[in-house]
Amino acid sequence: MPAVTAKEEMNVAVTDLKPRARKASAGYTDFEHTGPGTLAGKFMRSAWQPIQRSQDLPAGRAKPLRIMSENFTLFRGESGVAQVLAQRCPHRGTQLSAGWVEGDTLRCLYHGWRYDATGQCVEQPSEDAAFAAKVRIASYPTREHLGLIFAYFGEGEPPAFPHIPAFVGEGRVEASVEYFPCNFFQCWENSFDEYHVHFTHRTGGMHPRYPQMPHMTYTETEYGILRRSETADGKVRLSPFLMPNVLRTIVPSPNAMQGHGPSVRDSYLMKVPVDDHNHVFFISQHVRIRPGEEAVYEEKHLRYLELRAKARPPHELGLEILAGCLTLTDVVEHPYLAVIEDVVAQGGQGTIADRSQERLGRSDTGIIAMRKIWSREMRAIAEGKPTKQWQPLLKMPE
Ligand code: FES
Ligand SMILES: [Fe+2]
Repeated sequence: MPAVTAKEEMNVAVTDLKPRARKASAGYTDFEHTGPGTLAGKFMRSAWQPIQRSQDLPAGRAKPLRIMSENFTLFRGESGVAQVLAQRCPHRGTQLSAGWVEGDTLRCLYHGWRYDATGQCVEQPSEDAAFAAKVRIASYPTREHLGLIFAYFGEGEPPAFPHIPAFVGEGRVEASVEYFPCNFFQCWENSFDEYHVHFTHRTGGMHPRYPQMPHMTYTETEYGILRRSETADGKVRLSPFLMPNVLRTIVPSPNAMQGHGPSVRDSYLMKVPVDDHNHVFFISQHVRIRPGEEAVYEEKHLRYLELRAKARPPHELGLEILAGCLTLTDVVEHPYLAVIEDVVAQGGQGTIADRSQERLGRSDTGIIAMRKIWSREMRAIAEGKPTKQWQPLLKMPE
């Protein structure tokens, strides 16, 4: 492949990367705050967001849910349908997640008011019969796909679902979730950052190091951004980024699984704010297992899960490394070393990265392209103008 100049590298369809062009949207760069009423929060709420792994919510269970600095109640009715309701009972305000699931309804533990999946109050044991019909709490559209529960917190009708296609071919879907003690946006930016792999993950973990960095271009599409990576030997990899916060890409298997099952996994990666200082990283992966190897894989997988259950959470170890109490070499045997490494690098930018001081270069082309789209959309929201109607990813680009 011929050498690529810096100018050519930056000649991406999605954006003009000259500093003056970036200033055009300079007033719309608060990507980090996603609470109610914020521009970034409105953009995030315009899409389905993952909120929980399906396997973590058995039928008959209710839980508190915090997402984008708001609190809700998540429960799964006895028929198996997951539902999101308001956090509090409107009677005297206690937390509904502590209540009882009865059929597909949720009963408040304080005085027994009961709500159906639409939020309608259907029973008040100590009140006049006509009162319940007048009480209704907020409920939010909820769906399940690829091992994850998704909900829609925006205005009006939700966009088409599923917004991401199922994996094709034999294999199984494995979902996982990791907690990160920092703002979601700097980790979403990391999704566009192939270059960090050489250094952040040099201690070990799951990522192989490339002999040479691929040449990457970014093109805006009807669903978001298509990244095209081409290595010196001509191998091309296409990775779609769905706006606002979903990446589909191939990633290596967790380090403790290497040698047991496939070495890489087709994956959806999604970063979702808990609040402005914390987020969760949802991963749904297609694990291709060769016919006849299912039982062996299952045994290794269960052993891996046991290792994970015994190991300390990656975010705790990452924070101890940042505090100087440990080094990455001390945790090199951790079954998910790569997540610790990412917590150190991305948490090390500060709880909320200060972008006013950064010095971007050609390796940040993808990040700049993505920020420009976010800024454009946030500006449209602020000015009450139509935003781009993002389309679902119907199939993987070829
Ligand atoms: S607070 Fe829920 S029924 Fe009284
Ligand atoms: Fe990483």
